[in-house]
Amino acid sequence: MTTNIDTEADPAATAQLTDVAKRHLVMNFTPVDKYRDAELPVFVRGEHISLFTDTGKRYVDGLAGLFCVQLGYSHGAEIGEAVRDQLAELPYQTTWSMAHPAAALLAQKIAQLAPGDLNRVFFASGGGESNEAAIKLARQYHVTRGEGARIKFIARRVAYHGTSFGAMSLNGMTDVRKMFEPLMYGVRHTHNTKRYRRPRNETPQQTTDFLLNELESLIIQEGPDTIAGIFMEPLQNAGGSLTPPTADYFPRVRELCDKYGILFIADEVITGFGRLGSWFGSIHYGFQPDIITFAKGIASAHVPLGGFVASDHIIETVLDGPVGMFNHALTYSGHPAACAAALKNLEIMERLGVVEHVVDVAPYFAEALDRVAQRHSNIVGDHRGDGLHRSFELATNHDSRRWDSERVSAGDFVNNHLNPALDEVGLLCRVAIDAEGNPLVQLSPPLVSTREDIDEIAGLLDKAFTIATNSAQLSR
Ligand SMILES: Cc1ncc(COP(=O)(O)O)c(C=O)c1O
Repeated sequence: MTTNIDTEADPAATAQLTDVAKRHLVMNFTPVDKYRDAELPVFVRGEHISLFTDTGKRYVDGLAGLFCVQLGYSHGAEIGEAVRDQLAELPYQTTWSMAHPAAALLAQKIAQLAPGDLNRVFFASGGGESNEAAIKLARQYHVTRGEGARIKFIARRVAYHGTSFGAMSLNGMTDVRKMFEPLMYGVRHTHNTKRYRRPRNETPQQTTDFLLNELESLIIQEGPDTIAGIFMEPLQNAGGSLTPPTADYFPRVRELCDKYGILFIADEVITGFGRLGSWFGSIHYGFQPDIITFAKGIASAHVPLGGFVASDHIIETVLDGPVGMFNHALTYSGHPAACAAALKNLEIMERLGVVEHVVDVAPYFAEALDRVAQRHSNIVGDHRGDGLHRSFELATNHDSRRWDSERVSAGDFVNNHLNPALDEVGLLCRVAIDAEGNPLVQLSPPLVSTREDIDEIAGLLDKAFTIATNSAQLSR
């Protein structure tokens, strides 16, 4: 324990800690009624895929923190040792006009893992900052080539790309954006790949054709020479594990980008570093982006780190341009401690064969959750995903594919039945109401989860669904 509040020795300290947090911590995206007069869980320790609160309650982490703790919670000491050694040797150095070993070696490692000629790495401290940097790289690339009118970006509906103004502008989530408008000029949103809402008799190939036609007509409508880049996640997290309908979806987006001179930017903040069973989601789905943005899993979220890896061509173009540099900087870009942590994280992931492990257990994960979906078919409308990232879309009416129970609204079910049930069984996962009003349950456990862990996660979710549907009196 590194604070001066010992919750295990003194139960009163628990209440004290909760009060301190409520008084001084500004929560991220957390409705105040969730904690002002309610219990605020305080987590003090982790082990493998378990987390423990200050009162000793165990939770199974079915979300890997926020889709980011690839290694789970038992490698902090080893990563910490690498950070300690780095801090003892060189606690800080910039990547402005100079370099240091950890940043150089990590950039080289990422270039080795990334697809094709993506060899040039810029570091940031998180996902939003990484997308912000990629926006600026794309803009500068086009300006340098004399195509300064290319200032617009296309992203997908409901997608999440961060909260800084540029990244937020890319978001397809209306609620996250609208209070802060006007945002960065010129972002347009195209359909995402959710098939659950498409006509029932539409084949996956027809869905892909529809999406590509829509994307191309949007590009033409806007004027191809005004568009700088397209941002897409290989698997879209927000909206619930949205995968490409067919194998040719992303290659055809690539073709459109080439046809119209647009940069293809893959936001791999979640899909990077193993989540889908490849080092990058773009490798998994067989396409070559111009820029990949990353964060989260690169250091298993043990320290804040993000960045982009861009093609040689883009960086060379910018460096050979009139400004002679990438016109962007951050004090903490390539921070030695963060890079040392990431190098150690990647070393451990390779040592343990974590990416191969994901390939091995992903079908088991899908089947285990499929069984849960079948047992709770009265509330599960759709179960989908890939790798170790899967979602349930809940619907009580399978004809309309909507949650339209007269007994309990979607919000009531989530807030007063499902969330308390998940808390009771001790399972951490993400529950939200999606853009169309259906509850969404997301699971994305640490990549080291074993078959036994998967059984436990599926069992706990099964139990939570049973408790919630019983308490909501939703008949089968
Ligand atoms: C796909 C994606 N991009 C960007 C971000 C923003 O990352 P950060 O919260 O580190 O700024 C997130 C965060 O969840 C994300 O899921």
